[in-house]
Amino acid sequence: MLSAHYAVVFLISLRLCLLGCNGDKIRPFLTYYETVSYNRDQLFKDHQRSKRATNQVQSTVQIEIFGYNRNFELMLRRDRSVFTDDFKVMSDDTSIPIDISFVYSGILKDEGESFCHGSVIDGYFHGSIQTRNGTFYIEYEKHDNGTVESYIYHEKDIDYSLMKDVKSFELSLKKYEFLERMKWNSKEESVTRTKRSVDMSRTTCLMQLKADYLFFKRFRNLQEAISQIAGYMRSVNAIYDQVNFNGIKHINFKVKVLNIIQEKQPDNAMNSAYIGPEKLLMLHSSYNYNNVCLSYLLTNRDYNGVLGVAWTGKEGNNGGICSMFSKLKDAPGTEGSLNTGIVTIQKYGQYLPPRLIHITLAHEIGHSLGSPVR
Ligand SMILES: *[C@@H]1O[C@H](CO)[C@@H](O)[C@H](O)[C@H]1NC(C)=O
Ligand SMILES: *[C@@H]1O[C@H](CO)[C@@H](O)[C@H](O)[C@H]1NC(C)=O
Repeated sequence: MLSAHYAVVFLISLRLCLLGCNGDKIRPFLTYYETVSYNRDQLFKDHQRSKRATNQVQSTVQIEIFGYNRNFELMLRRDRSVFTDDFKVMSDDTSIPIDISFVYSGILKDEGESFCHGSVIDGYFHGSIQTRNGTFYIEYEKHDNGTVESYIYHEKDIDYSLMKDVKSFELSLKKYEFLERMKWNSKEESVTRTKRSVDMSRTTCLMQLKADYLFFKRFRNLQEAISQIAGYMRSVNAIYDQVNFNGIKHINFKVKVLNIIQEKQPDNAMNSAYIGPEKLLMLHSSYNYNNVCLSYLLTNRDYNGVLGVAWTGKEGNNGGICSMFSKLKDAPGTEGSLNTGIVTIQKYGQYLPPRLIHITLAHEIGHSLGSPVR
């Protein structure tokens, strides 16, 4: 009954690969990275100061990181543009007060056209830096023995061969890279050109995101989970900002509501870790999301290489962006929302680097907007 409608990114590895097949390699998706250090105490203090400041007098938070034979001097300011002004975080139907001042964006001091985005939590930074030389990612990992390792890698150092066996992923990767380059080109153009060519009419698509318990557990706390989500949204916006998508120009996504499940809920139909992707999408779709134009569920489940599933955008209520809660054509007697999708953050038991999640989410949102399967 579902088969005609949903689009899947199916990424199987031809190698027979079960959980743990990448041996003991700590970061199986990276062929290369460099560990980095920076002045955490300073960053911690700068962030505290920035947090207290009003928007007008906000000073810049600077981070200096050396890696890949160059000095990255990030100049950052608080940035909550991927969230609506009335953004709220809900847990168990209660709104949780949360300060999201830890999300930042900015530029590199010596590269005016660069773009940095990320979060500062406990004096640690994680995020991405888009430069003329491609995108660098900075992350950190807390080890069980209490030590924390910060590292940097370049997009070219991501081992796509773990995904690449299936053509569909190559296609989404190519499309993503193409759009990234397009963004880059238009950025260079806009510096030299006047603003007259800029189309000011923007379409904002409000989103309700749900993060299930498995997703929450992976990131351990609300700040970390939200900072990841801010990164996802920022990258999706960086892509769709530039596209004319079936006549929808400069579409921009903002999160209005984030439902986050912080504890196991044995009574919840979605609680079991062994629900297939289609079933999970159906369960997620059984709620009413009329208050937003799209709703995605973020999870951390091993779907043998399936990273995301979404209803394909069609006219009216028949799927995708802005479909209203209504009777489902193919399932008599049931109601549901088809402005929905799900994305998982692991493959064969391995956590995906953020870039792969960004590509998956951008790809699935493409389906929600009506992009055909494949
Ligand atoms: C960009 O990459 C090239 C080739 O890898 C390198 O020679 C150059 O120094 C890099 N530039 C910067 C600003 O990192
Ligand atoms: C902590 O654990 C990490 C990863 O297992 C290891 O690389 C590091 O050397 C350990 N550090 C200490 C001080 O034990």
